[in-house]
Amino acid sequence: MADFNYAFISLVLLLPLALLIFLYLIVRPRSVNIPLKNRHVFITGGSSGIGLALAHQAASEGARVSILARSLKKLEEAKDAVRLSTGIDVAVFAADVRDYDAISKAVDEAGPIDVLVVNQGVFVPQELAEQDMDEVKFMLDVNLLGAFHMIKAALPTMKNRVDRRPASIALMSSQAGQVGVYGYTAYSASKFGLRGLAEALQQEVIGDNIHISLIFPPDTDTPGLVEEEKRRPELTNIIAAGGGRMKAELVAKKALNGIKSGSFIIPCNFEGALLSVATAGLSPQRSFLMAFLEVVTAGIIRIVGLCFQWVWYDSIQKWHAQKKRT
Ligand SMILES: NC(=O)c1ccc[n+]([C@@H]2O[C@H](COP(=O)([O-])OP(=O)(O)OC[C@H]3O[C@@H](n4cnc5c(N)ncnc54)[C@H](OP(=O)(O)O)[C@@H]3O)[C@@H](O)[C@H]2O)c1
Repeated sequence: MADFNYAFISLVLLLPLALLIFLYLIVRPRSVNIPLKNRHVFITGGSSGIGLALAHQAASEGARVSILARSLKKLEEAKDAVRLSTGIDVAVFAADVRDYDAISKAVDEAGPIDVLVVNQGVFVPQELAEQDMDEVKFMLDVNLLGAFHMIKAALPTMKNRVDRRPASIALMSSQAGQVGVYGYTAYSASKFGLRGLAEALQQEVIGDNIHISLIFPPDTDTPGLVEEEKRRPELTNIIAAGGGRMKAELVAKKALNGIKSGSFIIPCNFEGALLSVATAGLSPQRSFLMAFLEVVTAGIIRIVGLCFQWVWYDSIQKWHAQKKRT
């Protein structure tokens, strides 16, 4: 009996250790540090909300910062705000990410980029049956096609940079880019699209020492969210209620820390971390500890996910039943 207990305890201790060693050996790409000091950080949508918070923090970490958005007035106000808080001047570029020629011109003027943060985004929630195709197209064009435009314009000089230190392309997704949410058909599609772009692109640019990050914030207090909430369907509020809510500064801090460590997936809060483990799929993972967590919790997290779906579909059913009664 004592021999059996000894063998059982050894197995319980040895199996996780063997798995950890195995994961340590196989996780790819390898871990990396991406410095920001004295490097060029280019942030789209940098005049407001999360992008502006990123500009503040990157400037205070000693980066040379450029921001791009449509409104020159908002860009100048953002420039003044960053100067006031950090004493540093950011470069501003007024252009629409939907206009490839304008974006290319801005990128040429700005000079070679070390860290590109594709953060611009528009979100207009509505059920697809009610939403105009113009709005659907607007979200896909700005959020997804705009990301292609930015990356396509910046990539040649990023690949040929003289500074051969690791570089980064970070894409601002959303928790609605990890799980489809009622009222976000177009928005979720645009953000899910970023994931496919990111996974494929990482394989294409790893040889150039360029590292891709995908950031998944929950609801975040920004001017964009204030506008979005005016249009949010009631059921969207009910379903999205569990995602938490953050300050733009905290999202920017988590995002920059993730970018600096080359994390492919960057969650911003505890719920986001759970969601990231649940949706890990075949995405790259640099951390063998995170990989370990993904492997050992996969089953239980799937059960938690199914419970969420059960609650959401129950809410939808009750909501429709109530509408029928009134
Ligand atoms: N806030 C949230 O709850 C939340 C949650 C998850 C993910 N996100 C994502 O985080 C990112 C930033 O959101 P935010 O809440 O900070 O938004 P925001 O406050 O509305 O700021 C959006 C920024 O994008 C710029 N922009 C919009 N359309 C553009 C275009 N066509 N070309 C160039 N720039 C454009 C805006 O400037 P102009 O209007 O002057 O162009 C502004 O600088 C978005 O990708 C969003 O999807 C936000």
